[in-house]
Order: sequence, then structure tokens, then C-alpha cells
Amino acid sequence: MKKNGLFITLEGPDGAGKTSVMSILAARLEDSGVPHVVTREPGGVRISEMIREIILDPSHTEMDARTEALLYAAARRQHLVEVIEPAIRDGKAVLCDRFIDSSIAYQGAGRGIGTEEVRAINRFAIGKRMPDLTLLLDLPAEEGLARISRNKGREVNRLDTEELDFHRKVRSEYKVIAQEDPDRVIVIDATGTLEETAEKAWASVKSRLL
Ligand SMILES: Nc1ncnc2c1ncn2[C@@H]1O[C@H](COP(=O)(O)OP(=O)(O)OP(=O)(O)O)[C@@H](O)[C@H]1O
Ligand SMILES: [Mg+2]
Repeated sequence: MKKNGLFITLEGPDGAGKTSVMSILAARLEDSGVPHVVTREPGGVRISEMIREIILDPSHTEMDARTEALLYAAARRQHLVEVIEPAIRDGKAVLCDRFIDSSIAYQGAGRGIGTEEVRAINRFAIGKRMPDLTLLLDLPAEEGLARISRNKGREVNRLDTEELDFHRKVRSEYKVIAQEDPDRVIVIDATGTLEETAEKAWASVKSRLL
């Protein structure tokens, strides 16, 4: 493994399987004896979890789109400083459920703030730190939402209640990001079974790690 660790992010539309795939990847890293940290956005540390609550509360219907984008960037900064940077310095593999690309896709494209504006505030938040590898789990917005609605255990958050059109814009922006940064972003077809998707994700991780 690289001396400086490996920063891996999972991205993709709601219900694509990011969280499920991440736990399988974590188990594979464990089995392979690779020191690693598993974390998520927004959240992961005390202050960022508090910001998460504010962002995702379904009752916060008056939230302005730029306020939302700034809160995500603030949560990202705190989490980066407290969790991600120290783990990378320790030479660990960091698996992070969502990062900057979520903001570009959801706030920049989905909310229509503009991807360059959202990139700019995120540059302020994260400086030069970008993931070494991003696994983009790709599937039609409808399929992801159908998976979530079948899953009774997950609470519906403020962004889930957006129209299908919002989620379609998110998916298509993710694809633009992947085209612009093909060395970092690997697009993984997430329409198959969880096992199939996880297998493809693991192959990408393994090729960068071992
Ligand atoms: N390949 C798959 N086929 C069918 N169902 C799946 C698949 N992968 C995950 N699921 C199920 O779909 C639901 C959403 O999966 P998961 O929570 O991992 O997605 P996610 O991308 O993390 O979603 P979110 O963006 O909402 O956090 C869960 O109930 C999960 O068990
Ligand atoms: Mg998830």
C-alpha cells in the first residue's frame, strides 16, 4: 500500500448501494489485513453529525439551497480535519460514504446552484485534498428510489422527498464528473445484485491497494 494511505470515496444516487457495498469492502480490507477507517458524510464526527441533523431534518422545509451547500461544506471540513487527514497520515485506507462529488451532483446540479459555485466553496473547505479513488455506483434514479422505498428500516430524509427529476439531474451530473476525471472516478454498474456490485468495487480497490 502507498505510504500515505489511500482515500476512497463511494458515490452514487440514493439507494445505489453505497452503504451496503462499503460494509462489504470494509470486511475485505479487514480480511486482507489492511489498516482502514470507515466513515460517512455528512457526519462522522460530533460537530458534523450535528450539522447532518440540521441538513436532513424533513421539517426544515425553508432551508435555502446555498445554506444547504454551505452546511455540507462545513461538515465536510470538520470531518476531513478530524478523521480523514489523520488516517491518511497514518497510512490507512479510508472508506468514505459520499464526499465532494455528492455536493457537486446534489447541490450543484440537483438544486441548480451551479456546479462551479459549489466547487468553489468546497475548494475552500477541503483545499487540495481529493480522493485517490472514487467508486461511482451508477443506476437509474427510479431504481435507487425503489430500493429505498422497499427498505422500511431507513428513515426518509429531506433530500429523498425531492422529485424524480431532481434525482435524474444528480445521476447525470455524476456521469459528467466521471467523464471529467476518469483516472479517479470508476463507474460501476450498480443494477445487479449487491454481491455483483461489491465484487466489481473490490476489484477496483484491490488493484490500487495490493
Ligand atoms: N444490488 C442491490 N440490489 C437490490 N437491493 C439492494 C442492492 N444493494 C443494496 N440494496 C438495498 O437497497 C437499499 C439501499 O441500499 P444502501 O442503503 O446501501 O444504498 P445507499 O446508496 O447507501 O443509499 P443512500 O444514498 O440512501 O444512503 C437497502 O435496503 C439495501 O439493502
Ligand atoms: Mg447510504
